[in-house]
Amino acid sequence: MSVFTQKLNPINGNLEWHLQNDNYDYHQEIARSAYADMLHDTERNEKYYSSLRKTISHLKKQNIKTNVLDIGTGTGLLSMMAAKCDADSVTACEAFKPIANCAKQVMENNGYKNKIKLVTKHSTGLTVGIDGDLQEKANILVAELFDTELIGEGAIPSFNHAHENLLKDDCYVIPCAATVYAQVVESQFVSNWYRLNPVQVSNGKTISLPENIINCPGASAVCDCQLNQLPSPDFHLLTEPIPVLKFDFTKQIPIKRNETVEIKVNKSGHAQAVFVWWELQMDFEGEIILSCAPKWAHPEGGKSQWRDHWMQAVYFLPKAVTVDKDQSLTLQSSHDEFSLWFNLGNEELTPSPMCVCGAHIAYSRTKFGMMNDATRLKKYTKALERIIKSDSICLSLSDGSWLPLIAAKLGAKKIYAMDSELPSRRVLESVAAANKIKGQFLVLPICENNVFGNSVFGSKVDILIGEPYFLNSVLPWDNLRFWYLRSIYNLFLSDDAKIMPQSAVLKGIGLNLEHLWKIKAPVGIVEEFNIEAFDQVISKSSNISDESIEPHPLWEYPGTAVTLPWTLLEFNFIKKIHSHDRLEAKQAIPFAQDGSCNAVGLWIEWQLDEQEIISCGPSEQIVPGKPVVWDRFCKQ
Ligand SMILES: C[S@@+](CC[C@H](N)C(=O)[O-])C[C@H]1O[C@@H](n2cnc3c(N)ncnc32)[C@H](O)[C@@H]1O
Repeated sequence: MSVFTQKLNPINGNLEWHLQNDNYDYHQEIARSAYADMLHDTERNEKYYSSLRKTISHLKKQNIKTNVLDIGTGTGLLSMMAAKCDADSVTACEAFKPIANCAKQVMENNGYKNKIKLVTKHSTGLTVGIDGDLQEKANILVAELFDTELIGEGAIPSFNHAHENLLKDDCYVIPCAATVYAQVVESQFVSNWYRLNPVQVSNGKTISLPENIINCPGASAVCDCQLNQLPSPDFHLLTEPIPVLKFDFTKQIPIKRNETVEIKVNKSGHAQAVFVWWELQMDFEGEIILSCAPKWAHPEGGKSQWRDHWMQAVYFLPKAVTVDKDQSLTLQSSHDEFSLWFNLGNEELTPSPMCVCGAHIAYSRTKFGMMNDATRLKKYTKALERIIKSDSICLSLSDGSWLPLIAAKLGAKKIYAMDSELPSRRVLESVAAANKIKGQFLVLPICENNVFGNSVFGSKVDILIGEPYFLNSVLPWDNLRFWYLRSIYNLFLSDDAKIMPQSAVLKGIGLNLEHLWKIKAPVGIVEEFNIEAFDQVISKSSNISDESIEPHPLWEYPGTAVTLPWTLLEFNFIKKIHSHDRLEAKQAIPFAQDGSCNAVGLWIEWQLDEQEIISCGPSEQIVPGKPVVWDRFCKQ
């Protein structure tokens, strides 16, 4: 049987049907899962193993039978650990069938076929009794159901259901508890991922923002970040990190809570966000601790484990507050079944933030950062100043772009702001209204199929502009949709129309990434267990479903250059693109540095005009053998 999937073509914005292998969805989910990354997390594996060893031998010394339940066994690793520690029975459950099948193979390859009972079910479907999945209730639960937000993957409902139905009252749970830490910070850099700023247009004019955008409490989605890679000038720690929420996994966990703590302010500043991470207390005596703290707060300091499956999180305060050194601050920490949120002050406990301005629904945090990036905006403004005249008719093709509003402020006669997404168009309209930009400014959807013979343009467009950026773009070159659109809209351009950007280049560099390679590298042996069957599953699924290119914000992943940058392809937007145009490049790239190359970084540079370039790649000159400093508002 064959499967057809609908895939968005980022260049023309159309949904297209693709013929896929019948297990395509599974393969895609497996290939993109973080299983390999977490299996490479040596600290995690060791600490689960030590805690299982300790708990099982503690019970055995008291002649108590050890019946282990492993919820979400994945590849079967924790169950095999329990079996190796001589548990009397081990039941493993896994809800995701392809991974459960893989666990079956892994367990068999390691000789545990008859020692572990594997059940392909969600834990809430497990039965207890003579003919049940578990013969009797378990007295040890081991589970790794955590994400960067701790509870975002459903740990609370799974643990609570297990306590109610699958576990003895005096059971041991690994991990037995978690503590969430919070640290209040001033950081305009991270605040720019969340809050739009007014735009300074160079002729002294400003694009101001409407009240609903200024006062919007934002959205509750977690913002995960490799905080260790955030340069220290970009944030100021205003308080010490303090424990704010404790989760005891050995009993029922409340599904909703608000806790308040008083913290002393160490440094005066503008409290804008809270950095958050958690630590797990793995064993019943509290001796084995697994911490996700950033290096400045980590119990093992600089020796902390690199990992990508758990990072730190940034929570934005609904309202920034000015605080003074030595002042006492009340921090509210709240959670529901799946998420956390934070606020300052003790007047009223705050509900989970909900966006009222539309911008948090329309734009990603990277896009917010881009819209607030003063350096970028200055380049756009300079390039626009050189072409906008009082009789200019402008067409902007980009999503969530300030360019048409800058063009209006610079005095263009008429501006058509075309944007593919409705929430984004609403934001643009509200900002235009707040700036009293009316008659000459029209916000329209980008619709390739409708424009022919049905022109909304009164007269020919003489300036075509774009950042270019489209909300459905994933890989750097997806924004070349601008070229495709520019070719369609050519019909409405005057003969001597100016195009900005006028061209682009796709560039590359050979990299030696310190850690990021681990998310794709084969796992092989974990502790003493052979997980190669899992590597084969991943490799097969990746071949079926994945492109060999992945978007990553490379600034979060340290690495050095091993080549000089090179140009792969050039794109000239002055000319229309034709459907038969095919661009190809084949080059031999010399290494500029001894060492290994485990990745190639690719990015686009947009040539706005003869003078201004917007680079979505390195933001400083590349020196082979040295770290690359990447633009932090784009993925490469
Ligand atoms: C983070 S992985 C951990 C895998 C493995 N235990 C390990 O430590 O390597 C979590 C796994 O649990 C599964 N899962 C999550 N909640 C579950 C539940 N309530 N019942 C069964 N499986 C669950 C997911 O499909 C996923 O495979």
